[in-house]
Amino acid sequence: MALSNSSALRVFVTRPIAAPALRRLAACARVDLWDDDAPPPHADLVKRSRGCDAILTMVSDRIDAALFRQAPHLRVVSNLAVGLDNIDLAAATRAGVAVGHTPGVLADTTAELAIALMFAVARRVVEADRFVRARRWRMWTPRLMLGRDLAGATLGIIGFGSIGRAVARRAAALGMNVIYALHHDLRAKRPARAGIEAAADPPVANPVPLARLLAESDFISLNVPLTPATRGMIGREQFAAMKRGAILINTARGAVVDQKALIEALRSGRLGGAGLDVLEVEPIAPDDPLLKFPNVTITPHIGSASHRTRELMAELAVDNILDVFAGRRPRCCANPVVRLKKISGLGAGSKSGR
Ligand code: DGY
Repeated sequence: MALSNSSALRVFVTRPIAAPALRRLAACARVDLWDDDAPPPHADLVKRSRGCDAILTMVSDRIDAALFRQAPHLRVVSNLAVGLDNIDLAAATRAGVAVGHTPGVLADTTAELAIALMFAVARRVVEADRFVRARRWRMWTPRLMLGRDLAGATLGIIGFGSIGRAVARRAAALGMNVIYALHHDLRAKRPARAGIEAAADPPVANPVPLARLLAESDFISLNVPLTPATRGMIGREQFAAMKRGAILINTARGAVVDQKALIEALRSGRLGGAGLDVLEVEPIAPDDPLLKFPNVTITPHIGSASHRTRELMAELAVDNILDVFAGRRPRCCANPVVRLKKISGLGAGSKSGR
């Protein structure tokens, strides 16, 4: 769907986003909108990106070297997400394409979902609702649907960026004892990306080693980005090191957890339950064994899905594009070392006859 504008600047937007942000973009550029909630197949993504100056993308769009090769005019990829694991950042930098993303604006909303999943699993909220709907609620009894308290429990947060800290603030207010580990503790060699590990907010003390966090936590919340260092970092060994009956909450990326090991840990009872907003493969396959566990609550990658936050994300994603059109790096730039392509006033297309 083309949104009319005579500008030579061309932008492909890969999904419908908040209307005010889209209108702001369409006032400055010719916008080609993929007007469907289902992602464009990769071939369409590449085809529609050809000749574009910018693309506004989602976590489920794979932005790879092949796309950059075929989109020589591209100056900016603006991801409607804080996570960047769908984008080949090195290839973008080599191609002179700035990459923007949306950190900060979604931290509270994602932290709220992490806390919601903790309550859902610990207090068996979804299981209890199913129980009632199945007309199995016959009477009040002192043993019905017993769960676990958050108050007084230890929460271990892995990754302490803006989302991890937002989870910590909420958990502390609920009376939890909060500890955290920084993700570079896990496979130490690789230096952490600047901005991921910020200073702790009170009342949380210094980071603890991962081994201690695993051994002491009643709840574990994953709040790391997916990188080569964090892929599969919670596997058999880490589950075996957890306190028996611990509850795992993942609002980060599915591939941070080895899903086979997760299923084994649930089967053996080592893990007391899990709240998963993200999975290795999304959407989940209908026959995935995870769907059989009553102590697992699964949500469809909705960590940042509130009306307000999605509007803020859309505004920031558009700002990132307009920054580049104005000759600057995106205000939230994931590859600040990029050498921006020269702006020729009306977009490369005016020269190339795209
Ligand atoms: C993110 O921001 O990375 C989320 O996963 C998408 O909202």
